[in-house]
Amino acid sequence: MSQFNYQDGLLHAEGVSLAEIANQYGTPCYVYSRKAIENSWLEFDRALRNQKHLVCYAVKANSNIAVLNVLAKLGAGFDIVSIGEMERVLRAGGRPDKIVFSGVGKRKDEMKAALRAGIKCFNVESVNELIRLNEVAEEMHIHAPVSLRVNPDVDANTHPYIATGLKDNKFGIAFEHAVAAYELASALAHVTIKGIDCHIGSQITTLEPFNDALLKVLELVEELKQLEITFEHIDLGGGLGINYEGEQPPARSDYIQTIIKTLNDVNVELVIEPGRSIVGNAGVLLTQVEYLNKSEHHNFAIVDAAMNDLIRPALYDGWHDIKRVEETSNAEEANYDVVGPVCETGDFLGKDRALRLDHGDLLAVFSAGAYGFTMASNYNSRPRVTEIMVDGESIHEIRKRETIDELMNGESLLPK
Ligand code: LLP
Repeated sequence: MSQFNYQDGLLHAEGVSLAEIANQYGTPCYVYSRKAIENSWLEFDRALRNQKHLVCYAVKANSNIAVLNVLAKLGAGFDIVSIGEMERVLRAGGRPDKIVFSGVGKRKDEMKAALRAGIKCFNVESVNELIRLNEVAEEMHIHAPVSLRVNPDVDANTHPYIATGLKDNKFGIAFEHAVAAYELASALAHVTIKGIDCHIGSQITTLEPFNDALLKVLELVEELKQLEITFEHIDLGGGLGINYEGEQPPARSDYIQTIIKTLNDVNVELVIEPGRSIVGNAGVLLTQVEYLNKSEHHNFAIVDAAMNDLIRPALYDGWHDIKRVEETSNAEEANYDVVGPVCETGDFLGKDRALRLDHGDLLAVFSAGAYGFTMASNYNSRPRVTEIMVDGESIHEIRKRETIDELMNGESLLPK
């Protein structure tokens, strides 16, 4: 159930009116619901209660330390792709032995830091990374826990920029080379094989691709067993989609049931790495109408949020619902392109939206909790916006709006 609902004609996050948040903290700002985040993670966790498992939240979706802390308190694991993300998790109270480290380009210093911290597993994406990790672990006189990310070559039917499991994508070890890579891993003295993993893409709204990927992974597991290579865990990555525009993604529990059925008593820990599905619909971007600019050809609503705050529409043609904070209005309805102040034609949050608008109206851009703030930039020298977490009736400012000074932090003039 959504935690964003109208109460007395005003859009609320849990028990707090978004108008009140705008009033206190200004716009634009991201607003997250603690309950929505918790409920989503718990839905995965509960569906897995009869299976050894770990639900590793993919930090890249939303890495605010308050979000990580809320999840850490539930016992979440974390999927990271950089040492920056690892530090966030640790400072937010996440346990190192519940961290898996993905990503195609891990540097030596990142490997060292993660080994020092004692993470659960490296999701190794190439043979050369495996060799480097073995060397780094040897220098440190320890063993690196590894899983190899195999590329199952299945079509996730998603936007090409977020499909990762096709053989033309840069991610993972080609399926045909996986056995040889595991043979190498078992021969290397400073890596210990813990698991096998894959991640086929993001915003996937049917179960077949997940099932196909798992079947291929299980094929490998069987083949490797003959070579006496066995696994403590299988990590299926993330990717379960959410509803942006009326998509009907499978329920989290159905997704889990399908996986468990396909696993069919294979005795391993199941790891998953959901990001979007945990935080996507737990956040909105709150913005205010600065100007209406209407002509015979087109109506523009120019708002104070822009592509630098939420890049999904510009980058992936992502569709986000846009609703008034005040439910009703006497303004005339018109079809608007909702655009920001950035000097780019691609700077839009939504196109052709039927809205009743006036200057000063507050709007909420929905499904902005995942890949919203984390992909924000300072383009056009726009300070990054405030983040708020609502918890019942209380408002927590979990990130202050950047100041103009912070915008230039670390920059300097030449001496002459
Ligand atoms: N695990 C790995 C190895 C990943 O690469 C990703 C996402 C995830 C887990 C989490 O996937 P999720 O459950 O969130 O779908 N910025 C894009 C999405 C990029 C996803 C990248 N990898 C967007 O806004 O649609």
